[in-house]
Amino acid sequence: LGRRRETFSGRNAFIFAAIGSAVGLGNIWRFPYVAYDNGGGAFIIPYLVALLTAGIPLLFLDYSIGHKFRGSPPMAFRRLHRKSEMFGWWQVLICFVIAVYYAVIIAWAACYTVFSVTKAWGDDPAGFLMNDYLQVSENVDVGFDFVPGVTIPLVLVWVAAVGILAFGVQKGIARSSMIFIPLLFLMFIILVVQSLFLPGASTGLDALFTPDWSRLSDSSIWIAAYGQIFFSLSVAFGIMLTYSSYLKKKTDLTGSGFVVGFTNSGFELLAGIGVFAALGFIATQQGTGVDEVAASGIGLAFIGFPAIISQAPGGAILGVLFFASLVFAGFTSLVSILEVVISAVKDKLGLGRVSATLWVGIPMAVVSIILFPTTTGLNLLDVTDAFVNSFGIVAVALVVVVFLTAGFTALPTLRDHLNKTSSIKMGRTWQIFVGGLTPIVLGYTLIDSLQTRISEGYNDMPTWFVNTFGWGMAIALIVIAYLLSKIRWSPKSALHDAD
Ligand code: PHE
Ligand code: NA
Repeated sequence: LGRRRETFSGRNAFIFAAIGSAVGLGNIWRFPYVAYDNGGGAFIIPYLVALLTAGIPLLFLDYSIGHKFRGSPPMAFRRLHRKSEMFGWWQVLICFVIAVYYAVIIAWAACYTVFSVTKAWGDDPAGFLMNDYLQVSENVDVGFDFVPGVTIPLVLVWVAAVGILAFGVQKGIARSSMIFIPLLFLMFIILVVQSLFLPGASTGLDALFTPDWSRLSDSSIWIAAYGQIFFSLSVAFGIMLTYSSYLKKKTDLTGSGFVVGFTNSGFELLAGIGVFAALGFIATQQGTGVDEVAASGIGLAFIGFPAIISQAPGGAILGVLFFASLVFAGFTSLVSILEVVISAVKDKLGLGRVSATLWVGIPMAVVSIILFPTTTGLNLLDVTDAFVNSFGIVAVALVVVVFLTAGFTALPTLRDHLNKTSSIKMGRTWQIFVGGLTPIVLGYTLIDSLQTRISEGYNDMPTWFVNTFGWGMAIALIVIAYLLSKIRWSPKSALHDAD
């Protein structure tokens, strides 16, 4: 018979691990820009609506499936219904793809923590990033010219992540989050305070928070709000489901979920304040508008912030705090995505913790290290990220909620499960949000991005490249998920244990 499932030692261990997963790069570099771009202060309204009507309800859905069926996504979905195992594998494969490139960004941030002290970029952060640090090739292609400055830190990131995961759920995942998350919050609060004292900070805050109420009638800001919430809470692609499968039977699921949801949003808001205060400073220094310095994602972190670090009083400290925050926030998220893949393989093959971690971690590290720290890795990262987010995460969430709703009995059963052990009870509105509203929003979002991608391609990249690593990858995940669901469960697996 299967081994006993690992568990978190208690509610706090789980909450720290779940916050560690939720608080990631998305909070620090995605939220501030998305908010700014979608109505500024007015964005708060769709954002809160999305949090309460979709983010938290889906978080509870993940919790209820993981906790009731006590398994990784494939095992939990298989126990839910014979036919739905493949949805679990689809989620696992999405996590696989995200992990192999997410680790790369953490490696960059680790290097930039050091560069913040040496100011390695001189007075040209953009040129430094593309030519000196990443050495990005002119051709959009797949090549194997490794850049040592990225490859070496990337190897270290993988060694650290796999090493922590080998210690298991409580001693590895929970314990590392209980160290990294308080550290992250402490560093980030110092960063925000320091930014607020920079000259020009208020210009940035005005730019971020000045509400453009007229935008509220524009459907695109609602899509942006739901998109940010789905991504930021990491709901519906296996992570929260996996973590909740390690909770003891009597756990307050909804109470913990509210803590996780509100902490994640609180951190986002804090990041918005810190980032825009700093952007206000650099805009004032350069005599430009905040809109000219507010780039999203990679540009904001690896080009915008270096410029701020070079010019701000105490810039080196600001830089170390910023990039070390990215490393900590990103690392705990990476651990959570890897755990989804590890737990799935562990469940299906009935392996022990250490062997499952190595069987999964080493091949994934190899894929990540072969494909990304090269002169051509940046374009690959870019296209994979765009497609796995628009057509992986969104599509699998849509299919799962439709499947659960169509069965009619699944959602009421899961709701009963939530209410059995939780302090805050879910009423029928929960079912309406999950089974009614969410599919509409997800369906609309999916159609919208399909239309854009089909008509515009992606970032002027060659068609073969987008077809292979964008569309091809997204479709391959579904096919492979189906095939994996057809493989027999090991007799050693816990699938049929009464538990
Ligand atoms: N929720 C994380 C964030 O806000 C993103 C994430 C994506 C985490 C994928 C884990 C896996 O950055
Ligand atoms: Na987040």
